[in-house]
Amino acid sequence: MTIHHATSVCIVGSGPAGLLLSQLLAQAGIDNIVIDRKDRAYIEARVRAGILEQGTVETFAQAGVSDRLEREGIVHHGLDLAFEGTSHHINIKALTGQTVLAYGQTEVTKDLFAKRTDQGGRFFFNVENVVLTALKSDRPVVAFRHAGTDVEITCDYIAGCDGFHGVARQSIPADVLKIYERVYPFGWLGILTERPPVSMECVYTNHPRGFSLCSMRSATRSRYYIQCDTNDNVADWPDERFWKEFAIRIGPDLASNLKTGPSFEKSIAPLRSFVAEPMRYGNLFLAGDAAHIVPPTGAKGLNLAVADIRILARGLEKRYANNNTHFIDTYSQTALARVWKVERFSWYLSNLMHQFPNHSPFEKKMQRAEFDYVMQSEAASRSIAENYVGLPLD
Ligand code: DHB
Repeated sequence: MTIHHATSVCIVGSGPAGLLLSQLLAQAGIDNIVIDRKDRAYIEARVRAGILEQGTVETFAQAGVSDRLEREGIVHHGLDLAFEGTSHHINIKALTGQTVLAYGQTEVTKDLFAKRTDQGGRFFFNVENVVLTALKSDRPVVAFRHAGTDVEITCDYIAGCDGFHGVARQSIPADVLKIYERVYPFGWLGILTERPPVSMECVYTNHPRGFSLCSMRSATRSRYYIQCDTNDNVADWPDERFWKEFAIRIGPDLASNLKTGPSFEKSIAPLRSFVAEPMRYGNLFLAGDAAHIVPPTGAKGLNLAVADIRILARGLEKRYANNNTHFIDTYSQTALARVWKVERFSWYLSNLMHQFPNHSPFEKKMQRAEFDYVMQSEAASRSIAENYVGLPLD
């Protein structure tokens, strides 16, 4: 037996992209159903980055989910870049007039779930064997197994918000998609600890032993990262080893204020730049990590997903309001124009701030010269600042 449902938009994936789309569509009176391979508790426990651009904050405000982030988020007026012991402050407020907000993606996701649940959002969790079919027809179908039964959702549009490993992008014929990719020869080891941050703004350091980043989740909770080997496991990095290495990389000045403590989350993430073009196939749209990945340097992943969703939500709103398909027809092109610029910045900052095992002496000199140039040039610092606070939204 198969249970049938019908909706306007079926959203595959209930991370922040899928949830935000669900909320914006619901506000516009557009019926939608969200499905996910995992459950809410699992999704709410995932630790991701924590810097929100002003445009991202405005989008969450429009979606009615900004109360807590405005209360609890920490406003950053700048960031520090340090290179082999020399530190350079970039005053993003003075250079761009804008700030960013430190607030964890995990918390954003919780706020979005709470909102959708309050408003009677329709969800299927723990779904298996998801198959997307009839993508080129005007009634695409999302079929899956849920709680021991087969379910089919017939809809007008499918939004693939199911991340890099999701089924959405893989449902597009390989000869239609063009993939652009770069894998970096290192990973990031990140920890959370219930200790006050060593600095109240982010500090990115390129030390001869590798990159480090000081970040935070609150005045009492720190998020710290170090560059590690791609083959390293969390078990290779007991807390004691992490703190010793981290203190060396951040340098003696910061290390003298460092409050160490037990970590309560520790994970390793690979670094990758990835773009799949186009972001639409028939009536399937890709958004967020399903279509593109940025390396974490600069914390652009969530912000970029939010920018995609704004464009997609507007397109679907126009389509349902007065059958204007112009904005969904140009979705891929509009979204990709921004995607590539954000890819460029994340790649640039990653190249500048890491130790590359494969760099030649020439490339090491170029990296050093780039840092010296950024330190001496207000124009170069402003360029970093304007990307850090977020490029203009459509
Ligand atoms: C964080 C992560 C980043 O990648 C970054 O550039 C800044 C902050 C974070 O997790 O807080």
